[in-house]
Amino acid sequence: MSFLAEPNDANFSGNVHGGKVMKWIDEIGYALAVKFSKKYCVTKFVDDIEFLKPIQIGDLVILDAEIIKIGISSLRIKVDVSSLNLIKNKTKKNCECFVVFVAVDKKGKKIKIN
Ligand SMILES: CC(C)(COP(=O)(O)OP(=O)(O)OC[C@H]1O[C@@H](n2cnc3c(N)ncnc32)[C@H](O)[C@@H]1OP(=O)(O)O)[C@@H](O)C(=O)NCCC(=O)NCCS
Repeated sequence: MSFLAEPNDANFSGNVHGGKVMKWIDEIGYALAVKFSKKYCVTKFVDDIEFLKPIQIGDLVILDAEIIKIGISSLRIKVDVSSLNLIKNKTKKNCECFVVFVAVDKKGKKIKIN
């Protein structure tokens, strides 16, 4: 997933708000979990989120997600967030974390991935 960090993503210091980064992490994790399982999934657990460096407005934000464990009803997904300063052509790693998604049925009860 990649897109430009926009002015309305900013916090009071002018960099990207941490809450926005967490939303994007949840979105890419959700997309990968549903694409893989072909079932509706909910966020169960977010592990060790670390904000390494701030993201500047105008940077290209790049999120990468990878399944690292396939459970019975759950998927553990690693998400990396980096940003590219388009003028300086310089990339930095901003954040990494692990998110667990659980596949659920229409009543919200966990179901098997496969
Ligand atoms: C998701 C939900 C249905 C799970 O039901 P549950 O009966 O509590 O499920 P369990 O505790 O057995 O956990 C389900 C899976 O998550 C895994 N899990 C639970 N807690 C975990 C944790 N802290 N770390 C890693 N994995 C975890 C379990 O190991 C299990 O995996 P498996 O089936 O692959 O072995 C329920 O907790 C729920 O509805 N949570 C709210 C979800 C939500 O509102 N999310 C935010 C909006 S999307």
